[in-house]
Amino acid sequence: MENDREEPIERNRGPLRLPKLRRWTVYYVSLACWTTGALWLIFRYFLRTEGKFGYKAHPLESWWLTLHAGFSFWVIWLFGLLWSIHIVRGWNANWRRWSGGFLTGFAFILTVTGVGLYYLPQNWRAWSSLIHWIVGLATLGIFLIHWLSKSLPKRT
Ligand code: HEM
Repeated sequence: MENDREEPIERNRGPLRLPKLRRWTVYYVSLACWTTGALWLIFRYFLRTEGKFGYKAHPLESWWLTLHAGFSFWVIWLFGLLWSIHIVRGWNANWRRWSGGFLTGFAFILTVTGVGLYYLPQNWRAWSSLIHWIVGLATLGIFLIHWLSKSLPKRT
């Protein structure tokens, strides 16, 4: 279904755009969530040093994870804010549906695997972690496609 509403598509599109402050909050908080996750990976896998008793974590490593967890809860809250005014309306108006659909799916996977990091047994946790950070890193690419794509819905 392309657009079965009575109003013209342009009028449907208008409210999809969030007010400026909310829009930039979504951008900054999501970017902070992504950056802290990526920094944790860099510090964990590239900046550990060899200590007397094995590998020694960089002092900032645990900070990135703490910040990441904090921002991620904020991201879930923002996702709820976007759900009805942006995501469902955008889907119904067939506006950037592919990239938006992927972004929504990725957010779902990240939330589920994020919870898995806390509660799954150790062997499942390793898989949850792997899926979480691979999907997490890829999310930036999907977001950029979604953000920069100029596609407009086709008229029926
Ligand atoms: C909806 C978005 C996201 C949610 C809800 C989320 C949630 C979480 C949670 C709850 C943790 C566990 C924190 C802890 O152990 O204290 C975590 C860890 C992590 N997240 Fe995310 N995250 C999200 C997005 C991302 C993104 C975009 C990236 C990629 C850059 C990412 C990378 C990581 C990494 C590398 C870890 C550490 C994994 C481990 O401990 O094995 N996350 N995330």
